[in-house]
Amino acid sequence: MSCGCSATKVYRTALIGCGMRGTCIALNAKNFGRYEIVAVADPDAANRTHTKKELGMGELPEYSDYKELLKWGQFEVVIIGSPDFVHETQAIDCMNAGKHLLLEKPIAISYDGGKRVVETALKTGRTVAVGFVLRYAPLYAKAKQLIEQGTIGKLTTMWVLHSVASGSDWYFHDWHASFANTGGLLLQKGSHDFDILNWFAGAQARQISAIGSRDVFGGDEPNDLTCPKCDKRFTCPERMNDDSPRVQCAFRKEVDCLDNHLVQIVYDNGVKASYNECHYTPDDNREYVFIGTKGKIVLNDADGKLYIKTRNTAMYKESMTFTPGNIDSGHGGGDSRLLVDLANAIEQQTQPLAGVQAGLEAIRVGLLAHESIRQNGKPLSSF
Ligand SMILES: NC(=O)c1ccc[n+]([C@@H]2O[C@H](COP(=O)([O-])OP(=O)(O)OC[C@H]3O[C@@H](n4cnc5c(N)ncnc54)[C@H](O)[C@@H]3O)[C@@H](O)[C@H]2O)c1
Repeated sequence: MSCGCSATKVYRTALIGCGMRGTCIALNAKNFGRYEIVAVADPDAANRTHTKKELGMGELPEYSDYKELLKWGQFEVVIIGSPDFVHETQAIDCMNAGKHLLLEKPIAISYDGGKRVVETALKTGRTVAVGFVLRYAPLYAKAKQLIEQGTIGKLTTMWVLHSVASGSDWYFHDWHASFANTGGLLLQKGSHDFDILNWFAGAQARQISAIGSRDVFGGDEPNDLTCPKCDKRFTCPERMNDDSPRVQCAFRKEVDCLDNHLVQIVYDNGVKASYNECHYTPDDNREYVFIGTKGKIVLNDADGKLYIKTRNTAMYKESMTFTPGNIDSGHGGGDSRLLVDLANAIEQQTQPLAGVQAGLEAIRVGLLAHESIRQNGKPLSSF
């Protein structure tokens, strides 16, 4: 029986959340040719105008409330690029309205909320891709392939150093800085990495322990202080430019997210991982080390390279490096490949590589890690 689809079908697509990410991924979607952006929703009129201009949308409809967008309803796919604390409700409403989704991470900021997203996806049969772009980046995909081929023997251990130089720029000058909005930076930022670790381990995280702190950001400044209005704006090391969309003071009282986290994970199959995320490093990088019984793979995001070393000599010896070609979009080529996978999955009525179940598992690890930090590093298996 024909599904009525064609390989060149272009999906009428709406964007919820006209911020940095929503605009960027919608632009990618438009340029890729399988999606036509036909409407946007965002409470902020200036952001709607900016995004429509970037996308060349002219007079196409715009809504301040996504519920009005859903009432209009003349589209098949929704890109949800709104802040984390509304993902759950918006995803559920969109799926119940019959829409397929590109849902940005984290899928929800509570475990129960994440379960509701998964339940709705199962109930409605909608296709949902979660914004886990690293899975699609050729560098990560190659590392996964090499491990599956047995290049380093049996995978036993994973180490991650995640340095976030842009911590102040992206995470502490706006809504990102509070637990109430994100569930914590181990969900907001770390869920990408927990997804990679879960995927590579190929098992469920059985035990999670973590320590962490807030060493640099937050403080006693008033919540309504912004960089352009601040007396210290010419000397403050964290000052944002006046025209930045993120100008709230990084040292304001309401900042409660941690800026430094060390997490340890034991998986059901015995694989172990350690994940370190710091938001005040001078450099921006993800460095992954995958260790197996016969060697190790070092993935260096900033270099854009894999270094593969095996134990077939008395000394560790670099046996191969891998540099992916054709990095045609953001996140090491992950953005465009995620969009391709979503279009194909909708057409074939399947689920993409990173769906809601992966989204739920990633937030489970992040939430348990934050809970372990609250309990002074106690190992936890469940809430
Ligand atoms: N997959 C990735 O690599 C990646 C990268 C960056 C951001 N993100 C995700 O994208 C999301 C947005 O992040 P951002 O950095 O673009 O933030 P942002 O603040 O730049 O954009 C958020 C936008 O949502 C709008 N908004 C606020 N409340 C809304 C609501 N109730 N309904 C609709 N829109 C609403 C804001 O006005 C703003 O335009 C986050 O969930 C983040 O985790 C993913």
